[in-house]
Amino acid sequence: MHRNSNHKKIAMELLLHCTCCLLTLMLNAQRSSSNEILGLKIPADPVLNVNTVCLTLPGITRRQMEVCMRSPDVTASAIQGIQIAIHECQHQFRDHRWNCSSLETRNKIPYESIVFNRGFRESAFAYAIAAAGVVHAVSNACSMGKLKSCGCDEKRRGNEEAFRMKLNRLQLEALNRGKGMVHGVMEHFPADAAGPQDSWEWGGCSPDVEFGEKFSREFLDARETYRDIHARMRLHNNRVGRQVVLDNMKRKCKCHGTSGSCQLKTCWQVTPDFRQVGSVLKDRFHVATLIKAHNRNTGQVEQAHPPHRRRASINGLIYFEKSPDFCEKETESDSNGTQGRICNKTSPGMDNCESLCCGRGHNILRQTRTERCNCKFHWCCYVVCEECRITEWVSVCK
Ligand SMILES: *[C@@H]1O[C@H](CO)[C@@H](O)[C@H](O)[C@H]1NC(C)=O
Ligand SMILES: *[C@@H]1O[C@H](CO)[C@@H](O)[C@H](O)[C@H]1NC(C)=O
Ligand SMILES: *[C@@H]1O[C@H](CO)[C@@H](O)[C@H](O)[C@H]1NC(C)=O
Repeated sequence: MHRNSNHKKIAMELLLHCTCCLLTLMLNAQRSSSNEILGLKIPADPVLNVNTVCLTLPGITRRQMEVCMRSPDVTASAIQGIQIAIHECQHQFRDHRWNCSSLETRNKIPYESIVFNRGFRESAFAYAIAAAGVVHAVSNACSMGKLKSCGCDEKRRGNEEAFRMKLNRLQLEALNRGKGMVHGVMEHFPADAAGPQDSWEWGGCSPDVEFGEKFSREFLDARETYRDIHARMRLHNNRVGRQVVLDNMKRKCKCHGTSGSCQLKTCWQVTPDFRQVGSVLKDRFHVATLIKAHNRNTGQVEQAHPPHRRRASINGLIYFEKSPDFCEKETESDSNGTQGRICNKTSPGMDNCESLCCGRGHNILRQTRTERCNCKFHWCCYVVCEECRITEWVSVCK
């Protein structure tokens, strides 16, 4: 197969849909200076206030509006988190018949899309990853010093005064021995791992994940006013998504000392790569639990098939509606059908032509297409992607 990739860097203003597009347009007028990212002119931090964020946000509930009015900057960050989540959802589902592209709604929070209003396994995943995206983006924005109401995690903050004194002492010792000091980032651990025996202390800025978690709850769970099975499903899956971020925090450490030594080690937490969050949730998508659909008004969650699954696990995703096959275009279930989708004749996976094309067969075509690739999210409200032109022979579903 001949593959011709031609990479070009481009900046797309919130191509990934939505809210931020609007934000960006509104904010252009208010920007003065600009930064350079990838050699492109990216405007400086935007002004995030009630007018620029909340009043340009269609599709939010009254309670979400209240949250937004209180913290417009955090809300903007939360919305960027939802975009990152949808982007990751598209990556995780690129081989599936439902490939998550239907969540890219224009100028809208995706919660009004059909998948978010149904009880499919896909809906469960969408809720979880969006809630995780909010925790992730908000916590990181906190540690970058972008938000007024949060900063570094106080519980994981070192004693800067004591640290400076120890460092000075080491520096003196190093000078006396005619050596220089070295500072290097070196190790990564799961956040709660003991690590090597040598001691370390908190230093630097750890993202305030508790703040992020709380905001995700306030902003997303606030949509729920009913205690029916759908609300229960949403709240449960939101919580599962948030927990995946919290459970996968990492620790990064830096050594200070004469070269080759690690006399003083400072560590800080970092959020997991969002790709990892997506993968963990994708695994849980495959083993999600179907719960009983009838509404007993108690909002209690029960499994549909107790003999098969003992309990809806506290960390498992739950759904209550069997998914359609997503083969044909069907507006009511958010299915665009798979006609025109690129499939793989030899793949053992979901993108196998037989399965992806639902038995309709496929054509082999030489195709040149432009895809956005290597997308990076920049605070606030920007997505910078490369544009890859690909020419190749492909199998395309009939
Ligand atoms: C669905 O298909 C139509 C064309 O039939 C296309 O214009 C639209 O972008 C597709 N939507 C998604 C979400 O892929
Ligand atoms: C996702 O599926 C839609 C049709 O359902 C298609 O238009 C779109 O190109 C697909 N996206 C990717 C990344 O394959
Ligand atoms: C198709 O699937 C096979 C098996 O997974 C893989 O080796 C091959 O690279 C895929 N081809 C394309 C064009 O993606």
